[in-house]
Amino acid sequence: MGTYADLVNPSVLTQPTYQPGKPIETVAREFGLDPTAIIKLASNENLHGPSPLALAAAMRVLQEVNYYPDGATTLLRDKLAEFWNLAPEQFLVGNGSSEVMVLLGQALLRPGDEVVYGSEAFIFYKLVTLLFGARPVSVPMPAHTHDLDAMLEAITERTKLVFLACPNNPTGTTNSPQAILDFANRLPEHVVLCLDEAYAEYLDDAVDIRPLIASGKKIVGARTFSKIYGLAGLRVGYLYGAAEFIALLQRVRQPFNVNLVAQSAAVGALDDTEFVSRVRAENLAGLSQLEQALTALKVAFVPGHGNFMVFHITNAEEVFDALQRQGVIVRPLAPYGMPDSLRVTVGTSAQNERFLETLWNVIGKK
Ligand SMILES: Cc1ncc(COP(=O)(O)O)c(C=O)c1O
Repeated sequence: MGTYADLVNPSVLTQPTYQPGKPIETVAREFGLDPTAIIKLASNENLHGPSPLALAAAMRVLQEVNYYPDGATTLLRDKLAEFWNLAPEQFLVGNGSSEVMVLLGQALLRPGDEVVYGSEAFIFYKLVTLLFGARPVSVPMPAHTHDLDAMLEAITERTKLVFLACPNNPTGTTNSPQAILDFANRLPEHVVLCLDEAYAEYLDDAVDIRPLIASGKKIVGARTFSKIYGLAGLRVGYLYGAAEFIALLQRVRQPFNVNLVAQSAAVGALDDTEFVSRVRAENLAGLSQLEQALTALKVAFVPGHGNFMVFHITNAEEVFDALQRQGVIVRPLAPYGMPDSLRVTVGTSAQNERFLETLWNVIGKK
């Protein structure tokens, strides 16, 4: 008798699953803790809360969820066009930027194609590559930073897509705007570059790829409302690029891929410049709070440019576990080939303090 495993597409059997940060409820149950006493610093969420303007806009449409959302995300694409000074036809909106990256893979990749990305880059790139039977080409990242020359050398005739995150998750490192522009300019015509800008709002000097798009370079930017805007739970992100390419990508999405509440919240979020500036400033203060304290604790770290930071520690799994038992959830990096490192999301100043005290408790006792 056949099993379901005999029935599925064989690639499903080898497809890895994404391992998210542990939810508070799960840790509370596992260790018998009070969920309200747990802090989750494991998924690079915005611990300053959602944008108030986004929240108000979300509340306004809750009464209308008996209607389907606008499948074409018209208001949001108009707003994005105004925000970026581009045309509405240059935006593809998705259920988080993860979805738009899957759509990119679905539209571009065939078995045998190659996808180039960094060895310590966001793991989702590998999942998208394998999902469509393409071949992952992982390029080493010396000093935890994308080596753009080595990535160029890894390009072959089979390369279809390159993923580059600036800042990168989990390492928090970034490449300079000029280095990114030079890299994009040197890529051959048959390669699409997806610049993942999930944390770009945290940078002072994010690269502007709009001139490259206008000049006909095969490049798209992926952005999300999950990070600085604080809307991870609503799931909304987007891709921007050449209208011709975006029109092709629109064909592969579901008819109503972005829910009504998320669309409305995202429109509100784009007006919330005050919130964005406040979060950026608090995040910078949080990064230096962590850097100073980790230096004092003699814990080596990678200086971060997003809302998170990697630190190196022996027995990282044990430390991760001990932190959890004391109600602090961080992220182990063994799945990224960094078994001696953990990643912590920058929280409020009080949460950062709690993390640092708990860490000291844990490593001081060893
Ligand atoms: C680099 C990077 N890109 C994209 C995403 C996906 O974000 P979302 O699907 O919530 O938009 C994440 C999430 O952690 C990320 O770290």
